[in-house]
Amino acid sequence: MRAIVVATPGGPEQLHIGERPDPVAEDGQVVVRVASAGINRADLLQRQGFYPPPPGASDILGLEASGVVASVGTGVTAPSVGDRVMLLVEGGAYAELVAVRAAQTVQVPDNIDLIDAGGIPEVFITAHDALFTRGRLQDGETVLIHGGAGGVGTAAIQLARQHGCRILVTAGSAEKLARCIALGADEGINYRTEDFVARTRELSDGRGADLVLDIMGASYLGRNMDAVATDGRIVVIGMQGGNQTDIDLGVMMRRRISLISTTLRARPAGQKAVIVAAFAAHVLPSLADGRLQPVIDRVLPLEEAGEAHRLMASSEVVGKIVLDASTDA
Ligand SMILES: NC(=O)c1ccc[n+]([C@@H]2O[C@H](COP(=O)([O-])OP(=O)(O)OC[C@H]3O[C@@H](n4cnc5c(N)ncnc54)[C@H](OP(=O)(O)O)[C@@H]3O)[C@@H](O)[C@H]2O)c1
Repeated sequence: MRAIVVATPGGPEQLHIGERPDPVAEDGQVVVRVASAGINRADLLQRQGFYPPPPGASDILGLEASGVVASVGTGVTAPSVGDRVMLLVEGGAYAELVAVRAAQTVQVPDNIDLIDAGGIPEVFITAHDALFTRGRLQDGETVLIHGGAGGVGTAAIQLARQHGCRILVTAGSAEKLARCIALGADEGINYRTEDFVARTRELSDGRGADLVLDIMGASYLGRNMDAVATDGRIVVIGMQGGNQTDIDLGVMMRRRISLISTTLRARPAGQKAVIVAAFAAHVLPSLADGRLQPVIDRVLPLEEAGEAHRLMASSEVVGKIVLDASTDA
């Protein structure tokens, strides 16, 4: 099969199309003929040699995809050959075929384009798990979503909107903030020109946000503690601003702040199955009737994985980039 290979750990120019053996569906797995694969920041790190795949996972990049089931292994009752699915995987999605545990696949609703579906699993599952399962976001609460125009951000805005939350978002330009408002955010904060702590407090009658969904990590932790309400939660899902910082535990304790963190890829198979099932039960019906929509910035051919990585590292994208693996360029 054709797959994207990393010549040497390094920049986007290291990504090339190559030939790899077809995967085989082992016990409990299916092999999917990939329609599209979503690009994630974790892929950029793996390309540079900083984020090796977990033991046993494919070394091919790519954590999510959509496509049609091509074969099923022993013990699989669903999905079946020919089904349209989207999937979460520990690696291997930048390819024509990918092997995945059946429990990490979900049927693609009829109304959703199969290419667009490749950009759904990672961000909708992450946002749903972070906001509601980990962060216990309640209807009507105030949430501050950092990076609102990103893949996770655009999913998180739509999910929080469904729960009647008051949604504050940060982004780096007026255009991106306008896109966030169009998706359902109430207020936009330009993190380049405004103080998000002061603005969050101002926009929440001085209380702060009940929940902060954070992608920056170290560089924002102190300010997130100032922006979150007493008894509030900070859910860290990214480290774009580093992973080492000091915390004032006194402030955390006095204000009863919960610091929660999570990552999807490293979870054991059993937990992934539970998370995917929660997504299928609570998010999929709204994707199927159009209340939630994938935000796809652009679709590039599989061969242009390097360009896709360059774009993701730039500030030019709103939502997701996906690689179309369904045609030979
Ligand atoms: N824990 C998990 O399981 C998990 C799963 C998926 C993703 N993630 C992580 O979550 C993060 C977001 O992922 P994504 O797929 O949404 O990436 P993305 O689409 O590239 O979005 C990242 C966003 O960050 C914004 N940003 C950059 N600097 C910022 C700052 N100082 N303050 C606020 N926003 C800022 C960018 O907006 P501007 O262009 O306007 O700067 C961009 O829209 C990444 O770090 C990713 O690795 C974690």
